[in-house]
Amino acid sequence: MMDRRPVISGNWKMNHGPEAAASFFGELGSAGGAARVIIFPPALSLPAAVEAARGTGVEIGVQNVHAEVSGAFTGENSAAAAREAGATLALIGHSERRHVFGETDDQVAAKVARAVAEGLEPVVCVGETLDERKAGRLEEVLDRQIRAALTTLPSDGAFLIAYEPVWAIGTGETATPDDAAEAHALLRDRLTEARGEVAAAVSILYGGSVKPGNAAELLAADGVDGVLVGGASLRASDFRAIIDAAE
Ligand code: G3P
Repeated sequence: MMDRRPVISGNWKMNHGPEAAASFFGELGSAGGAARVIIFPPALSLPAAVEAARGTGVEIGVQNVHAEVSGAFTGENSAAAAREAGATLALIGHSERRHVFGETDDQVAAKVARAVAEGLEPVVCVGETLDERKAGRLEEVLDRQIRAALTTLPSDGAFLIAYEPVWAIGTGETATPDDAAEAHALLRDRLTEARGEVAAAVSILYGGSVKPGNAAELLAADGVDGVLVGGASLRASDFRAIIDAAE
């Protein structure tokens, strides 16, 4: 099986202005080590994060991009401008974009296409709600979400997938390693079905209440190639502990 490099990523959501972003990287220091390390700062802090992360080995991504190249879309992020500002990845379809801002599978696919067109590596988020899980619809939901994203994800496998059970995000209710392994196996199966052997190069990350205390166990779960961390990525010392768990 392809030995995929571990990926430790942090999604700051709407936290950390430019000064806090610079301080974070000053405290974190070099990413160094086995893992690929990525931070998704809020858009207004992205240039400061890119500057502060220079030389640390940490990659910077934009949290959301509009599907159009430019235009009358007040408040939206242009993928081209994000790339110009130094982002190299784009987080797309996060559960908050889907369930707070009503983003559809088709909109996710269109955003993926724009990100790829502008040279940003897509990181597509999928995951079920608690009601969907309780109704036994895990496979149906993940299948629908991943198939929609695969209509525009690059054929060479240059993308990441993040499985984030909505019920585990920000709740402290972490999925068990078995829960994560089950969902990751399903996603891996769909990726292989759609992309063949190229799929083996695609990392599937787990997100949802990852903390320094549970990171090692989750990273050891079958099929978990890395993590996408929310709250615990805001403090450099916590994020460092999670990076170290991947060593
Ligand atoms: O994108 C990662 C995020 O949704 C997970 O948040 O705070 O549960 O780690 P948290």
